[in-house]
Amino acid sequence: MKQFIELLNETVGAAFEKAGFDKELGRVSVSNRPDLCEYQCNGAMSGAKLYHKKPIEIAEAVAAELSNSDVFEKVSAVMPGFLNLDISARYISDYVSKMLSDDKFGYENTGKQQTIVIDYGGPNVAKPLHVGHLRPAIIGESIKRISRYAGHKVIGDVHLGDWGMPMGQIITELKERKPELPYFDDSFEGEYPEEAPFTISELEEIYPTASGKCKTDEEYKKKALQNTKDLQDGKKGYRALWQQVLKVSVADLKRNYEKLDVSFDLWMGESDVDDMIPAMVEKMKADGHAHLSEGALVVDIAEESDKKELPPCIVLKSDGASNYETTDLATIKYREDNFDPDAILYVVDKRQELHFIQVFRTARKCGLAKENTSLEFIGFGTMNGPGGKPFKTRDGGVLRLETLLSQIKEGMYEKIKENKDMSDEDADKTAAITALAAVKYGDLSNQASKDYVFDTERFTAFEGDTGPYLLYTMVRIKSILSRFKENGGDMSAVSSADIIYAANACAAGKDVLKDITGFSRMIDQAFEERAPHRVCAFAYKLANDFNSFYHEVKILAEEDDAKKNAYIALLEGVLKLFETCIELLGFECPDKM
Ligand code: ARG
Repeated sequence: MKQFIELLNETVGAAFEKAGFDKELGRVSVSNRPDLCEYQCNGAMSGAKLYHKKPIEIAEAVAAELSNSDVFEKVSAVMPGFLNLDISARYISDYVSKMLSDDKFGYENTGKQQTIVIDYGGPNVAKPLHVGHLRPAIIGESIKRISRYAGHKVIGDVHLGDWGMPMGQIITELKERKPELPYFDDSFEGEYPEEAPFTISELEEIYPTASGKCKTDEEYKKKALQNTKDLQDGKKGYRALWQQVLKVSVADLKRNYEKLDVSFDLWMGESDVDDMIPAMVEKMKADGHAHLSEGALVVDIAEESDKKELPPCIVLKSDGASNYETTDLATIKYREDNFDPDAILYVVDKRQELHFIQVFRTARKCGLAKENTSLEFIGFGTMNGPGGKPFKTRDGGVLRLETLLSQIKEGMYEKIKENKDMSDEDADKTAAITALAAVKYGDLSNQASKDYVFDTERFTAFEGDTGPYLLYTMVRIKSILSRFKENGGDMSAVSSADIIYAANACAAGKDVLKDITGFSRMIDQAFEERAPHRVCAFAYKLANDFNSFYHEVKILAEEDDAKKNAYIALLEGVLKLFETCIELLGFECPDKM
């Protein structure tokens, strides 16, 4: 369906034309003075210079052309030259009815279907997910869902950190502890054991121990560097041991992401492009892009317009080992070769911006990325704990994601038990769903690039701009709908109801319809700006206006069937819209709360 605002533009544009002015002046926007009018057009102001006329004269001429329009019920030209517009209840009701019966509420992707790779999550194997991993998972998942909804082909890749120095460190520590393992016996010819020589909790202790030792013990660090290099060069025992690290770690990561309702199409990692590196590097050298600097192979990326000096991109370290830049470069080539994407999006901590500037520029310069592939860094801000300080456990350690989530869930459980008579089992399920909504909405309602404070109290509140408020509103609608059906309500009459009764019931009724008409545009904006907060803002406004409507009219007690059916039809539509919104944000709604 054509977007509502487009239809308004066309109507007002045609009036400008009829009155003898350029139709492009007829751009309409939602009024920023809702106390005065619903929509506005400021085209007469820009027209004034063009036509050497007073803006009010232009506005009046256009208003006269619109006086018989069935799109607007009120049109006024006001000083100094604004057009104030109120939409006709008939017109908006018909549009909304059509939307509600259409697939995707009439949303159409008018551009070309793109292929988009989204790189998000970015966990490192052998390390548990901590609160720092929450944002890329939540934001990336939502951007993926929004892009898919907008009609694009989307590939989500977790891009595991599985190839750098941490791997060498783990090998080093294991070798100290269990030198007898066959992985360390160079003459070993047999099959390596099926079972990993550690559990996930051991692994999670081994890695920080090893990394700590590297900071204080030069000898140890040297060994770790050598082991990293040997692993990357293909030493058989190390490769087999590393496979075990991957196996144990990935199983644990999958379990954790599942709890977050986050999933990836690809579980690839830095290591997967390792075999592409030699040829890539050779070509960079042959083309004259890469040169040696203090032993390392680098590509200069500085540009004249840079405000500060940007260091070159290190493509190979002086010992010949690859690094974070190398694997990201090869990954770009891999994605180009295999998916031919229109865009690659990176949802990564904004503190990594320099790394991505270096990688993107190198990729362009060396022809690893096609000229028209958009490489986008979507840097997110830090999620801070109470008082704006980084999130830590009480003893100062990193807070595990699992711990944070179960704390929120416990709080939710208490709240639910307080308010409602629910079995422990139901309360537990509801608490899990609501807690996830609280966490995700709390995150996504902020612009991704901003830092924010994780305020448990506020995020879990049932009022205000929160996930639970949205769910509460949905549960309210669900309960009205099921009571309507229980009382023998006729659903076929609802499906053909005339929504105009809802539009005319009260101002809030019409507000709800106006909100609904903005859906397609919201989807386009959320997609183009990679901005899940657009979905939150849409849903929150709709929830507020819906709740005002709910408080102003009697629904089930309404005696006039035509009215009642219209209200129920609107409720059904609003619920479906909410369901779509929370699906895009990545959470669900319980039946009761
Ligand atoms: N593993 C990285 C980290 O923990 C994040 C990976 C982000 N994605 C990428 N292609 N570099 O910092």
